[in-house]
Amino acid sequence: MNIVWKLMTSALWLALCAAAVEGKSNVKKEVFGKLPDGTPIDIYTLSDGPVEAQVMNYGGYLVSLKVPDRNGKSENVVLGFDNLDGYVNNNTHKGTAYLGPIVGRYANRIANGSFELGGKKYSLAVNNGPNALHGGPHGFHIVVWKGQAIPDGVELTYLSRDGEEGYPGNLSVVVRYTMKQGTLKIDYAATTDKDTILNLTNHSYFNLKGAGKGNILDHDLRLHASRFTWADSTLVPTGELKSVEGTPLDFRNSTRIGERIDSDYEQLRVAGGYDQNWVLDSGGRELTEAAEVYEPTTGRVMRVLTDQPGVQFYSGNFFDGTIKGKAGIAYQRRYGLCLETQHFPDSPHHPNFPSTELKPGQRFHTVTAFSFSTR
Ligand code: GLA
Repeated sequence: MNIVWKLMTSALWLALCAAAVEGKSNVKKEVFGKLPDGTPIDIYTLSDGPVEAQVMNYGGYLVSLKVPDRNGKSENVVLGFDNLDGYVNNNTHKGTAYLGPIVGRYANRIANGSFELGGKKYSLAVNNGPNALHGGPHGFHIVVWKGQAIPDGVELTYLSRDGEEGYPGNLSVVVRYTMKQGTLKIDYAATTDKDTILNLTNHSYFNLKGAGKGNILDHDLRLHASRFTWADSTLVPTGELKSVEGTPLDFRNSTRIGERIDSDYEQLRVAGGYDQNWVLDSGGRELTEAAEVYEPTTGRVMRVLTDQPGVQFYSGNFFDGTIKGKAGIAYQRRYGLCLETQHFPDSPHHPNFPSTELKPGQRFHTVTAFSFSTR
């Protein structure tokens, strides 16, 4: 009798605790749609006052992010689609634009789609000219993650099997999106059972005027980076870390993105604008401000903090109006900007770059935060 009573009271206590956590967290889970094979996909809404983020468990996409302007008017500032079909169709058509997903196992490029580890050669699918890009055609942006509401956010988990997209090791990945005090935090963790390589990021396109409201050329950008990885014509680093001094890649003082984007500078010419990896001055050790973006007409400010050594600033050069995003708006050239916090592209081929290797017994852990305010 005593034991039964104890069990009943502890069950009640647990239920009360769970309700308290749920009540505090402002996380709502709803069905977003079904994949073509019938798999149901959920969308989680994380709200904190006027700031609200939506994340789904297909691809771990940040589907929308509403933040207030200087008059308190909240608006979505990330590019995306109104429904699940939009994301699925963009992923099945060649040349997906990665409108907001978790990217892995290796964000950015690996030259010629192969690398060596422990004396063994691994081959990856080549999906970007001669190179492998963003984890391959069936990367993390396309898989179904297991979702679960947690205090202030959502936890997404995924087990990537040994050999998936050519990468070694069973990799267990946990990504947590949380929203608190105007800051969206993304926390990535992983473990493996074989030596492997890993480089995770989120690939959201921001437009602080509001998604679909023109291009990002009038945004001001500041990057805390004195060097960048010089790249060849396929956007793969040669290994050289070059100073930004005297180049259009110098954003150490806040500068309008459109001011130098079309200058006759080789790195801009080959990429059709900004699409380079900056070497952060912080060295990628602890959570530090990497970038600040300011949009003068709305007053919105976004600060990007990270513990990663690099950031790929991509100015959406490949948009050409064929993608019709939210509200059916055609995304034209440079309608959004990405700040992909990450390890340097093609690190497995450059011993002078910070290592992207992960071994059994180690825990991969990295944090990036997007913090919003107005000015
Ligand atoms: C990254 C790359 C770009 C492009 C986009 C996706 O940012 O650096 O070159 O491939 O992803 O369109």
